[in-house]
Amino acid sequence: MGIALKLSGFEHMPADSAIYVPGKNIKSVLFGIDADVPELLLAKQLGFDAVISHHPKGGTAVINFHHVFKRHIQQMIDAGVPKHDAETAVQKKMTDLQVEMHSRNFSHAVDVAKILKMPYLNIHTPLDELGRRIMSKKIAETTEDSTVGDVVSVLSKLPEFDKSDTKIETRLGDSTNKAGNIIVSHAAGTNGGYRIAKTYFEHGVETLVYIHISPGDLEKLKSDGVGNLLITGHIASDSVGINPFISELENNDISVSRIGIIPP
Ligand SMILES: [Fe+2]
Ligand SMILES: [Fe+2]
Repeated sequence: MGIALKLSGFEHMPADSAIYVPGKNIKSVLFGIDADVPELLLAKQLGFDAVISHHPKGGTAVINFHHVFKRHIQQMIDAGVPKHDAETAVQKKMTDLQVEMHSRNFSHAVDVAKILKMPYLNIHTPLDELGRRIMSKKIAETTEDSTVGDVVSVLSKLPEFDKSDTKIETRLGDSTNKAGNIIVSHAAGTNGGYRIAKTYFEHGVETLVYIHISPGDLEKLKSDGVGNLLITGHIASDSVGINPFISELENNDISVSRIGIIPP
């Protein structure tokens, strides 16, 4: 966890990340985007020292998950959205996430890890923030005249997108449109849905990048008919932020086996 926080510049562990079972002298790690009970058993069977999940799997990381959704507010302000409009756009989905939390079985996998005495943690937003920065840096290679299609081409050069079975999709707008002002909206728990995308488009963002979106939210954006929306793909995009962290673990003499992560 310390290595991840240092690499991403986080002073504190965010609400959607947690150490469920602490451990020492970790030399080998099984790392899955959704490392859950099966992976804990596999790790025990194969003799790994710890299991890391990217997505939250229990405890406070599930219960307090909605807090990281507030990160959308600062990202929107940085993109030129007025503070009040950013806060209004975030409120509804953040409340929905908080309400949904009560349906979650938040101690299941954690209890299995405790029974197995398997060190277990999840690291979510710090790694998504690494991915957001890498994607934004890549997009900075485009020019004023670049089209939406050019943005797709430039992003597709990142190895995780290049190797992924999913391709970057233009779900709203057209690849021949001028890309204009481009923003990567990522590393705030989950995608901003309809309201956050709509608010970006109302405040000068012409091309928005999400890693995923629900079909319902996409339908609403389509009926508004404003803006370009690129969907980069959940697993490929999560892998973009996870891989630099795995490299750093390896630099610290920790061997890592990937499950469901597209290698660089
Ligand atoms: Fe992620
Ligand atoms: Fe994810």
